Amino acid sequence: MRLIPLKNLSDVGRWSAQYIVNKINKFSPTKNRPFILGLPTGSSPLATYEHLIALYKAEKVSFKHVVTFNMDEYVGIESSHPESYYSFMHNNFFNHVNIQPQNINLLNGLANDLEAECQRYEDKIKSYGKINLFMGGVGSDGHIAFNEPGSSLASRTRIKTLTQETRIANSRFFGNDIDKVPKLALTIGVATLLDATEVLTLVTGRHKALALQAAVEGCVNHLWTVSALQLHQKAIIVCDAESTMEL
Ligand code: GLP
Repeated sequence: MRLIPLKNLSDVGRWSAQYIVNKINKFSPTKNRPFILGLPTGSSPLATYEHLIALYKAEKVSFKHVVTFNMDEYVGIESSHPESYYSFMHNNFFNHVNIQPQNINLLNGLANDLEAECQRYEDKIKSYGKINLFMGGVGSDGHIAFNEPGSSLASRTRIKTLTQETRIANSRFFGNDIDKVPKLALTIGVATLLDATEVLTLVTGRHKALALQAAVEGCVNHLWTVSALQLHQKAIIVCDAESTMEL
C-alpha cells in the first residue's frame, strides 16, 4: 500500500486529480478501448472533481472515451432528488466535462427488482474486463462504498442496510433529519472494488483518523472494511494531515 500524506483537502484534491489525469493520458483511451474509472460521492472527492474539471477546461484531459461506474446509490429516492448520487455526480462532475451520457453507469435505486439491478451492474463491469482505477472515500466507521462494518470482504454488488452511524453522518445532506435518510442502499461489494487494477482512496479530516489507522495499521477485518485495501496489490491512500492523527 502506498500512503501519500498531504497538508489539506485541497492538496488531496489536486494530487488525486492529477494522478487520474496522468493515468487516463498514459492509457490513451479510444472508442474501442475506453478507460474504465470507478467513482465515489461524498464530500471527500469534491476537491478532486473540481480539479478534474479545471484540468479538462485547460485541455489537459478528455473524458470522451472514459467509462464510469459509481460505487453506490440510495434505494427509494428519485434520481432527480437533489441528494441522489445521480444528482451529485451530474452536478459536481458529469455536467462539466465531455463524458458521453452512454458511458455513465450508476446503480438504479428505484429498480423494481433490486437484486437483478445489482447483478446487471456486476455483469456490466465484467463486460469491460477490469476497472482501471477505482477512486473511493471512506466513512468514519471505515466503510468503503456502502460496505458497512461486518460486510463480507468477498461481497459483490448488493443491497445493504445502512447503519445508524452512517445515516446520522449523512443526515447533514437531508436537512439534518435522519428520518429523511434512506435506510437502504445499493453498493458495489468489497470484492468488486478489489477487482479494480488500482484503488485510490481519499481520506480527509480528523473524524477519519480511526478509519485511516484501521486501513494502514489494523488487521484485515470485516469490521473495518477499508482494511481490505491491504489485500490489494495497487492500493493508494491519499490523506490530509488531520486524518493521520492516530498513525
Ligand atoms: C457515504 C458514501 C461513501 C463515502 C462516505 C464518506 O457513506 N457511500 O462512499 O466514502 O459517505 O463520505 P464523506 O467523504 O462525505 O465523508
